[in-house]
Amino acid sequence: MSYDFLRLRVSETVRHIQKRTKKRPAVALILGSGLGDFADLLDNAVSIPTSSIPNYPHSTVVGHAGKIVIGSLRHSGRSSPTLVVFKGRVHFYETGDLTPTVLPVHVAHALGARDLIVTNAAGGINRTYSPGDLMLIRDVLSLTFLGDRQFHTSDAILPNAPQLPGGSSRQRVAPVFSPRLVALVRNAASAIGLPMREGVYCWLKGPSYETVAEIEMLHRIGADAVGMSTVPEISAAATLGMDLLGLSLISNLASGISPSKLTHDEVTETANRVKHQFAILLKHVLVRL
Ligand code: HPA
Repeated sequence: MSYDFLRLRVSETVRHIQKRTKKRPAVALILGSGLGDFADLLDNAVSIPTSSIPNYPHSTVVGHAGKIVIGSLRHSGRSSPTLVVFKGRVHFYETGDLTPTVLPVHVAHALGARDLIVTNAAGGINRTYSPGDLMLIRDVLSLTFLGDRQFHTSDAILPNAPQLPGGSSRQRVAPVFSPRLVALVRNAASAIGLPMREGVYCWLKGPSYETVAEIEMLHRIGADAVGMSTVPEISAAATLGMDLLGLSLISNLASGISPSKLTHDEVTETANRVKHQFAILLKHVLVRL
């Protein structure tokens, strides 16, 4: 799909949202597999089913209800900035096209959000990890080799965008996580006594889970966790100049590390078990932004 298609979808979606609410979000949050319930914790929220938005793409994956929720959070006597929360995502493997996958990022940016927090469920490759661990994403590997043009949609949205660091606005901007947001998460994890992993997230296209040999390869090249999302969104956001934070919930041990066969049910069951801890951590961070 073309840049024009993306521009049209963004303006249609933004118009639709701005008809429903005058709130202007400063922070965007994309909720991964099994983590969508976090959106229900927002106060005075406006919740917009994505099915009501003309031509908005829908996820076909269980645990990815399509909703955009705008509101704020209260926690320990503090309030968060206004948030736009995307409950459910469209993975690249569902369409073979990055446009629906990066659309929420462009919508959030057009609504005014400058921080993006991306969450996912991921398979643990690092042998010290256990299902239910939370991992702060320190860096990413992309083995889809979808670079360059596919990510460089910012010039469609920002036709007069200033030259981005590293060259033309069509050049990929490697996502770098925000030191400010990383420090906030580390402080939050230690304040609430939550052991936090830190590692490299590897994006594979999916939709099938990996072979044992593939996981061994990923281990050798430095991946700590593997999943089928997040890199497109953070790459688009980096190109738009947003500040980034990525969090993985280790929902299972990756193929060959776990003796049992992996299923999507295991992913959502683990997410259900630890989503409460995940919510406490996120609330702690969001009310300090
Ligand atoms: N592999 C790929 N994607 C995943 C996994 C996995 O083990 N767990 C959750 N998403």
